[in-house]
Amino acid sequence: MLMKKLIGPIRQLLTLDQLPLKGALRDKQLEIVTQAGILVERERIVKVGNWIELKQEYAEAEIHELEGDYVALPGMVDCHTHMCFGGNRARDFSLRNAGRTYLEIAQAGGGIWDTVTQTRSLDQEMLATITANHANRLLSEGVTTIEVKSGYGISVAEELKIIRAIQLAASGTAADLISTCLAAHLCPKDWKGSPADYLNEIASQLFPVLQREKLCTRIDAFVEKSAFSPEEITPYLKKARELGFDLTIHADQFSCGGSQVAVALGARSADHLEASGDVEIQALCRSNTVAVALPGASIGLGMGFAPARKLLDQGAILAIASDWNPGSAPMGDLLTQASILATFEKLTTAEVFAGITFRGAAALGLTDRGKLTTGQLSDFNLFPTADYRDILYQQGKMKPAMVWKKGSMKYDVRDTKYGI
Ligand code: NIG
Ligand code: FE
Repeated sequence: MLMKKLIGPIRQLLTLDQLPLKGALRDKQLEIVTQAGILVERERIVKVGNWIELKQEYAEAEIHELEGDYVALPGMVDCHTHMCFGGNRARDFSLRNAGRTYLEIAQAGGGIWDTVTQTRSLDQEMLATITANHANRLLSEGVTTIEVKSGYGISVAEELKIIRAIQLAASGTAADLISTCLAAHLCPKDWKGSPADYLNEIASQLFPVLQREKLCTRIDAFVEKSAFSPEEITPYLKKARELGFDLTIHADQFSCGGSQVAVALGARSADHLEASGDVEIQALCRSNTVAVALPGASIGLGMGFAPARKLLDQGAILAIASDWNPGSAPMGDLLTQASILATFEKLTTAEVFAGITFRGAAALGLTDRGKLTTGQLSDFNLFPTADYRDILYQQGKMKPAMVWKKGSMKYDVRDTKYGI
């Protein structure tokens, strides 16, 4: 019989219990269990409570006694990444810093198309290895659930290769990988027909395979002047929705339009939103579409942040994700980026913690993670501090000392064997 495990004592355990899905949060709303223990069985949390009491009640459990001060937070959920890619775009980055714009570089043959070329040149196994390595780096930083988009293949065969690579990568990491098909990232330069023809080809040739082989349940699209217009993308997304796929949209990054498509079609999330104005914000706030801020793209491109404060104040569900990709967001560090977004947008600690945990999970349609309460997955991080406020104060430099995923310790800073 598998034994229960009891971990503690934990100086402050933040359950994130009772926090609403929508809207602004005050730090006073954070439930903090002090001198806490966490009891887990298999992959779930059985109970969170006082360490001494739990130790008496569950004396037969396998005890993991901690020395020193720790703060426990739910495992982070990064609900938007493009971390399955080949090569890099350091050249684009230096050109941007020398004054060229993202769109100019894309028009001159750099940008997304460059990564498409570099990704197409790698085989499935190599892409799976790269993706698993990326996932393991994130896991060691406390990210226990990671969404991974395709989108650097942009043909039926190449998109399939990438989505299969993501599936293969899942066996090389303990983090949960959630794949999303972003075949509508760009109309391929080597496509002979119209953008509408390309989207039809993807919907008719790729969607059925994704469903038949259970490869992924989510469809994404880049709605932007340089990619697909709202008019071009709507029939494609409607087809996906009719087939039962969940939708998520790259929306309002440089120009508006995408978030309104997302709301109209009931998408799970609208991501980016740097260009969103009052009309877009109000529409998102009236909907159940999660607004996902991607500060990594703002930092990578040197552009303004999504209006996170306004979105929260008006009642939106705000999640924060890294957008890790080789072009606009090469850093791939959720905690650092969320900490920086907090200083610029004036987000409370509770809003940031919610945005990188259960609100990020909501963007993926997941309700079984992101809080430390009975029945949730036992995905949690132990940060080496006695005060939860230190975590954002250190702006991402404080990493978890221990990372637990589904009831097992996957990373321990004291033991290099768990590292990558
Ligand atoms: O989310 N905006 C579109 N897609 C990515 C960037 C991809 C790239 O530059 O390679 C993003 O920022
Ligand atoms: Fe993105």
